[in-house]
Amino acid sequence: MAEKKKIILTGDRPTGKLHIGHYAGSLKHRVELQNSGEYDKIFIMIADAQALTDNADNPAKIRQSIMEVALDYLSIGIDPSKSTIFVQSHVSELTELSFYYMNLVTVSRLQRNPTVKAEIQMRNFETSIPVGFYTYPISQAADITAFEATTVPVGEDQAPMLEQTREIVHKFNAVYGETLTEPNILLPDNRACLRLPGTDGKAKMSKSLGNCIYLSDTEEDVRKKVMSMFTDPDHIRVQDPGKLEGNTVFTYLDAFSKTEHFAQYLPEYANLDELKEHYKRGGLGDVKAKKFLNSVMQEELAPIRARRAEYEKKIDQVYEILKSGSETAKQTAAKTLDKVKHAMRIDYFHDPAFLAEQKQRFE
Ligand code: TRP
Repeated sequence: MAEKKKIILTGDRPTGKLHIGHYAGSLKHRVELQNSGEYDKIFIMIADAQALTDNADNPAKIRQSIMEVALDYLSIGIDPSKSTIFVQSHVSELTELSFYYMNLVTVSRLQRNPTVKAEIQMRNFETSIPVGFYTYPISQAADITAFEATTVPVGEDQAPMLEQTREIVHKFNAVYGETLTEPNILLPDNRACLRLPGTDGKAKMSKSLGNCIYLSDTEEDVRKKVMSMFTDPDHIRVQDPGKLEGNTVFTYLDAFSKTEHFAQYLPEYANLDELKEHYKRGGLGDVKAKKFLNSVMQEELAPIRARRAEYEKKIDQVYEILKSGSETAKQTAAKTLDKVKHAMRIDYFHDPAFLAEQKQRFE
């Protein structure tokens, strides 16, 4: 038998521009995976239908954000000749698959999903949870399985979705016969990247908290945000010993700095460990650490900003990338939907046995 193809499916909800939390947690990793050449196919989905599950009253926001997210993808280096970028709502097969998968999942199982639980709390839904929102883990299983994805590079918060998907795959295959592919989550290796805090030190970077650095921020925006970042509140005078735990500047340095950056921007230190030691001992001021972080961030973000500026001048081309990507995605998902219906034996009009069977019954 031919070796199983390695296929990536991943995506983001278009509810605004993407920020460096998304970038560290998953986007940067996707570009590396794309450029590794190890994957046979890569699908990157703008999950507008999922975004609508908790934004039903604001389709305008989703509509605008589709282009923002597409520009973010292209500017970080997602290459449309290597990866298919597409829009979820254009692939109606995904909705159809979800409907069949819903029969394989219990309400109590959905209620136990920790990500959904946390999101319900964050949005103050309490008892007014939209049914669509509640079932989005099932629709996410449809997204993943429709492309026969083996690998799903996402942030750590998506782990419960992958678990749910794997359960649906097992159940489907057990009930209807071996059909669906079991996916694996792929997390970035760098621990600091897994959960990048907001610039204010709060656990999550989020638009509503106003603690984000966006991929599309100007150089000056980034500088201001870095220079006002949360550090160790007890590190008052330069000579005081400083704490690294919960110190956002050092978490960001863990996520983004490389040893080469020291030679270039801060040659008095050989590497991050030396800088950390000095901070802990006392004698290293926050401003110096922040200036270094700013240089590191600017180096990372400058090429992204430049590519974005180029694509902003070619919105027609971005539109075509999304449109043709969505068509390719639709064709792929349709093949899986056919397999699913065949396995469930509901492919009546493609199955010549159906008519013969029925005729025989009524003879
Ligand atoms: N839930 C993801 C997010 O909030 C978006 C998403 C939808 C997704 N379907 C997916 C991610 C399938 C990976 C695979 O960003």
